[in-house]
Amino acid sequence: MRVFVTGATGWVGSAVVKDLVAAGHQVLGLTRSEKGADALAAAGAKVHRGTLADLDSLRRGADQSDGVIHTAFNHDFSKIVENCEEDKRAIETLGAALEGSDPVSPSFPRSSEQTAAALAARGLRASAIRLAPTVHGHGDHGFVPILIGIAREKGVSAYVGEGHNRWPAVHRLDAARVYRLALEHGTEHGPFHAIAEEGVPFKQIAEVIGRRLNIPVVSKSPEEAAEHFGWFARFAAVDCPASSERTRSLLAWRPQQPGLITDLDHAAYFERGPH
Ligand SMILES: NC(=O)c1ccc[n+]([C@@H]2O[C@H](COP(=O)([O-])OP(=O)(O)OC[C@H]3O[C@@H](n4cnc5c(N)ncnc54)[C@H](OP(=O)(O)O)[C@@H]3O)[C@@H](O)[C@H]2O)c1
Repeated sequence: MRVFVTGATGWVGSAVVKDLVAAGHQVLGLTRSEKGADALAAAGAKVHRGTLADLDSLRRGADQSDGVIHTAFNHDFSKIVENCEEDKRAIETLGAALEGSDPVSPSFPRSSEQTAAALAARGLRASAIRLAPTVHGHGDHGFVPILIGIAREKGVSAYVGEGHNRWPAVHRLDAARVYRLALEHGTEHGPFHAIAEEGVPFKQIAEVIGRRLNIPVVSKSPEEAAEHFGWFARFAAVDCPASSERTRSLLAWRPQQPGLITDLDHAAYFERGPH
């Protein structure tokens, strides 16, 4: 299959590209930069220059392909509303190109998942992949490195209350396979859960961080947590266990990589700078 991958140079997308190429698919990867183009060529993908704002570039990419995996997102959280709008327009454009129809009316719902569901309701084989909030592995630049940074800055590794709140997790390479399997097996039964561990107790994460940084591991009340974690406090306190039983059974997906705690308990996670 010829697959157009947006975000093809990113943390998740680059793993998806690798997995697709290894499975014999042809990949057309979107990037804005020369550096991205070089990385894509090295990964065995064809390069498609464009941006999320340039809808024509997305249309051209999808037009040349049998399927699309969309992982590009602008993570500037100070502009989250604009970025979600951009995401919605991108999904609508990609869907319309695959469908060969007119663009979707602007009254469609905002979130990426609802936008994909609206395309599916029109008969397109479109589906969302729900990633665990923690996609871990070598090169992680997500939630766990943020936690490590806060612990390092504050001199303590904290959890909220008893620390029993759970974070689902998935290794990047296992997550990448869910995208490919959804594409190959048929996306109509989505959304799919790229979730290897239903819920890792937050306290366990804080304990590894404390041990590796050689700093105390402490409990914070919700009020203290707001001060300690700042904008990250609501993520640190969230309890959101999630199952992937249905996805495992529909896609015959079995996570094969180490779990979050095993993966985190390595020196590489604690080196300064990007991993
Ligand atoms: N990482 C995680 O732990 C995690 C967890 C849960 C959900 N997610 C979600 O998974 C998706 C992928 O995340 P990620 O961590 O792989 O992202 P990432 O490493 O930050 O990569 C972002 C990708 O998006 C592309 N991109 C950004 N802005 C763009 C724009 N304006 N136009 C075109 N391309 C643009 C970049 O391409 P170029 O720079 O090459 O143009 C890059 O390939 C996102 O929707 C993210 O929110 C990630």
